[in-house]
Amino acid sequence: MSRETLRVLFVEDNPQDVEIVRRMLGRYKRAEFKVDSVASAEECLEALNGNSFDLLLLDYNLPGEDGLGFLRRMKGNATIPPVIMLTGEGDERVATEAMRWGAYDYFPKNSISSEILGQAIHQALEKFRLADQLEDAEQVIFALAAAAEAKDPTTQDHLQRMQRYAVQIGQALGLDKHQLMLLRYGGILHDIGKIGVSEAILCKPSPLTEVEWEEIRQHPIIGERICAPLKFSHEVGPIIRHHHERWDGQGYPDLLSGEEIPFLARVISVVDAFDAMSSNRPYRKALPLDETVRRLSHGAGTQWGPDVTQVFLDLLRSQGLGDRGDRQRGPGRHGGEGRTGGTRAPHEEHAAPGRHRSDRASAEKPARAGKWNGGIRRG
Ligand SMILES: [Fe+2]
Repeated sequence: MSRETLRVLFVEDNPQDVEIVRRMLGRYKRAEFKVDSVASAEECLEALNGNSFDLLLLDYNLPGEDGLGFLRRMKGNATIPPVIMLTGEGDERVATEAMRWGAYDYFPKNSISSEILGQAIHQALEKFRLADQLEDAEQVIFALAAAAEAKDPTTQDHLQRMQRYAVQIGQALGLDKHQLMLLRYGGILHDIGKIGVSEAILCKPSPLTEVEWEEIRQHPIIGERICAPLKFSHEVGPIIRHHHERWDGQGYPDLLSGEEIPFLARVISVVDAFDAMSSNRPYRKALPLDETVRRLSHGAGTQWGPDVTQVFLDLLRSQGLGDRGDRQRGPGRHGGEGRTGGTRAPHEEHAAPGRHRSDRASAEKPARAGKWNGGIRRG
């Protein structure tokens, strides 16, 4: 079987070290290495421009910008191949810093051998390719979220607003950067499971049957499953799964109540309801802000977590939220004035039939059509 040929660029100003590494990799059995070398960070950039390398071996001590400075400068640059840092000093600080700035591995030069270096290169390439595949998976999943949104004509630009509102309330709650990122992803992905719900149900203007409700109730579970390949799925999955739980335990899919509901799912739930109430629908105009506030206040402690709802209401009163006023004046995608004043019960004003914990195994209750439940939507 022929060996894989890998192109390595060694950034090293000492020609003797270049020769040693070249000989080491020449003895490695599992791959054939073509090793080019340059003597500085700047020469490295020139060499990368127009040439394709599988991996960079980067010396720490370089004339001009050192290896760490180069790594820092190149962090996030997609044109840079995976990097393994080499140094003459056994300095832990350099190792930690190198990994922090994106190096795949780190070795003091006096510790490497043909086998160690060859294997390290293989492992770095494996990690790099895996990360690449995961990024591809993420792009597919975010495209699916947009496709799911497109299935429901009542939710024009819902995802854009959701992520914006989610971040605003997250900031008001004093969440850190990572949690804000999770909220933004939750805002984008919470309804991705609608891709598995029939369009006829999502768009049905009349009350849903119990069987149809059961299909709707699957969307958080489907959504969590779709997002399982994401590298942050263990943190975003619970937001997706639990965004229709209610504080009083009457939501779905798991009938969680109170603080059993993951905190970020509680945040998304309030924001989702606000967007539903303050958007035009085919069968009604957006609710006025004072009515939206009244309904959110009324549902705090039953449908939504009281603390999160209070922070959101304070935010609404002090800042308003983005383009809300404009959307209230204009018609929705299918929401021309002629169709907005009807008496048909709107989707999100149907209460999803509640299921008490004791009802889990029993037959479903019929939908309480027409009764405002504080903003539960079909999706
Ligand atoms: Fe939903």
